[in-house]
Amino acid sequence: MRVLGIETSCDDTCGAVVCDGVIASSVVSSQHAFHAAYGGVVPEIAARQHSRLLIPVIGEALREAGVTWDDLNAVAVTTAPGLIGALLVGVAAAKGICMARGLPLIPVNHLTAHLYTVCVAFPRIDLPHVGLLVSGGHTALFLVTAPGEAVVMGATLDDAAGEAIDKAAHLLGLGYPGGPALDAVAAAGNAAAVPFPRPVADRRGFDFSFSGLKTALAVHLRTHGHPRDAAGIADLAASYLEAVVEVLVGKTVTAAAAAGVTTVAVVGGVAANRRLRQSMADACRARGLRVCIPPVELCTDNGAMVAALGEIGLRRGAVADLAVEAAASVTMTRWSGEVAGPPHMSMMSDPCAAPRSGSADGR
Ligand code: KG4
Ligand code: ZN
Repeated sequence: MRVLGIETSCDDTCGAVVCDGVIASSVVSSQHAFHAAYGGVVPEIAARQHSRLLIPVIGEALREAGVTWDDLNAVAVTTAPGLIGALLVGVAAAKGICMARGLPLIPVNHLTAHLYTVCVAFPRIDLPHVGLLVSGGHTALFLVTAPGEAVVMGATLDDAAGEAIDKAAHLLGLGYPGGPALDAVAAAGNAAAVPFPRPVADRRGFDFSFSGLKTALAVHLRTHGHPRDAAGIADLAASYLEAVVEVLVGKTVTAAAAAGVTTVAVVGGVAANRRLRQSMADACRARGLRVCIPPVELCTDNGAMVAALGEIGLRRGAVADLAVEAAASVTMTRWSGEVAGPPHMSMMSDPCAAPRSGSADGR
């Protein structure tokens, strides 16, 4: 099976080809330069850039994969959730290709596509497992029961972790997007320098909140002034990042225990963060949990995750009518509180799951 994947839910224009579970190409055209002046994604600009960039990106994805339109079996596209104008560009392009080429259209949920990246990278990962999705637009914990199927254990009550990180980087003068810059600067700082709050860390349940932490940094800067040297900025960055990471890690390992699973996955753009990767690995090792975190290029937005999950959808016959519409939000089922028990399935035992590459596990 050869599936073209299209992803335009936010500010990355992405096209990819997946052949029998193997990523044959993955092209990402970042729009960061167009949004930098505004310190955040401007939805109207994102949509316009997608319409300018998407066709060349798809062309490059086909070329890199060494396939032609005739070789494709389906087109998978992110239909929700995301910026509605941005999603519409990808969905319209996918519909056009499917209509012109007589191909089936596979709609893909952006959140389950992120969760599926770990199955692509670690084909033997246990199911069910707990998946932490941390990106610029989303922060949520899921019980992943099968490829592309998940229930929500908790979600952010306000800002996403990535948004909180980007805002902190902006306040510290680290530019946009701030995640990678804050990651680099924090590595040289003292994480215990400033005792930032750990929002809702001690509250029951698995919901997150990061808006108060953003305010705490703004108040700190107003009270103490902007640090005068690089060491001061590094200490603030490290202390702030530590607060975010501690809450994410704490809730994730508690969720794994509550759900009775032995494997944890971290996906989404913020999963690229080195402190989060290290801290999650340490916490999981201490509790005898296996942790799987995909490589960075699968963490940030990409078309490969859409194509790969689309291939599963195609095998299951989840073909959409060409009248399918993009949607800014989706409602996903909440976790019932039921304990999962031992793993009942691994990716390799699911006849619909196709990944052929990747290492055995992330331990
Ligand atoms: O998944 P993603 O590419 O797009 C969304 O769906 O939002 O995630 C983007 C987010 C941004 O907030 C970005 O700053 C953050 O991921 N990010 C990082 C790092 N790399 C990207 N945050 C912390 N450390 C990083 N190394
Ligand atoms: Zn995303």
